[in-house]
Amino acid sequence: TQYTAIITEVEGRVATITLNRPEALNALSNTLIAELVDAASKFDADPNVGAIIITGSERAFAAGADIKGMLELEYSDVLAGGAFPSWGGIEQMLTPTIAAVSGFALGGGCELAMMCDIIIAADNAKFGQPEINLGVIPGFGGTQRLPRAIGKYKAADMVLTGRMMGAEEAERSGLVSRVVPAAELIDTVKQAAALIASKPLPALYAAKNALQAAEESSLSEGLRVEQIAFQALFATEDQTEGMRAFAEKREANFKHR
Ligand code: HXC
Repeated sequence: TQYTAIITEVEGRVATITLNRPEALNALSNTLIAELVDAASKFDADPNVGAIIITGSERAFAAGADIKGMLELEYSDVLAGGAFPSWGGIEQMLTPTIAAVSGFALGGGCELAMMCDIIIAADNAKFGQPEINLGVIPGFGGTQRLPRAIGKYKAADMVLTGRMMGAEEAERSGLVSRVVPAAELIDTVKQAAALIASKPLPALYAAKNALQAAEESSLSEGLRVEQIAFQALFATEDQTEGMRAFAEKREANFKHR
């Protein structure tokens, strides 16, 4: 597929989607979102892809929804639902996703990062939900995912003031998985993605699904999801192989990965 607002590449079992609207700091135009969802869902369906990286440029992961594209929208346009493309359940894909964030991750950019399983940030990253300054509020999940990630008080500070949070504060708050020097960001993320992609797929899918249950359900429901998945993995060849390899002191040779 010929994309105009993103660049895709596959190396080994790792796919990378690079947001590419440098003139607008990767603002999430409808075209960009549609292309991102299209590429991500194709990679998700491809058994040769074991992990997906979403990244931007050094200056900006994404500076938010495209404000210029929202200028003329009225209540009726937004209400009808056609004004913004669907995210297509990108956060529920089976394939693990890593956001590699350098520079600005603001508004929809911060929300896109939070749709990923792991967020690895460069030390120059800046996160924020500045929508309040535009007379709106986060619209791609920010008011729900941010408090779940960093707690009510940190989230309210971000959403009500619209201020930016640097990489160090973001890591301390639990918004990012790791912070690395900007020059090492892509290598670090590619290594993490390759490591994930080397793991047995049935266990990866089960782990991701159980982690999602932690966000979406009560403790007892989530524990139940975990227990059922844990038990089911004993029906997989990769469980037999993984445990046998350990006992025999050799590398596991997983069938599904
Ligand atoms: C459209 C944007 C943009 C955006 C930047 N640009 N962010 N265009 N939508 N969100 C454009 C600028 O207009 C400018 O284009 C170029 O990118 C470079 O930006 P500058 O502002 O000149 O750069 P700088 O001075 O370094 O400031 C960087 C910045 C600032 C702090 C990130 O651009 C900024 O505040 N951007 C908006 C951030 C924001 O409010 N995001 C939330 C959006 S609402 P020109 O052509 O002028 O050079 C949202 C809601 C999601 O995300 C939910 C919707 C349902």
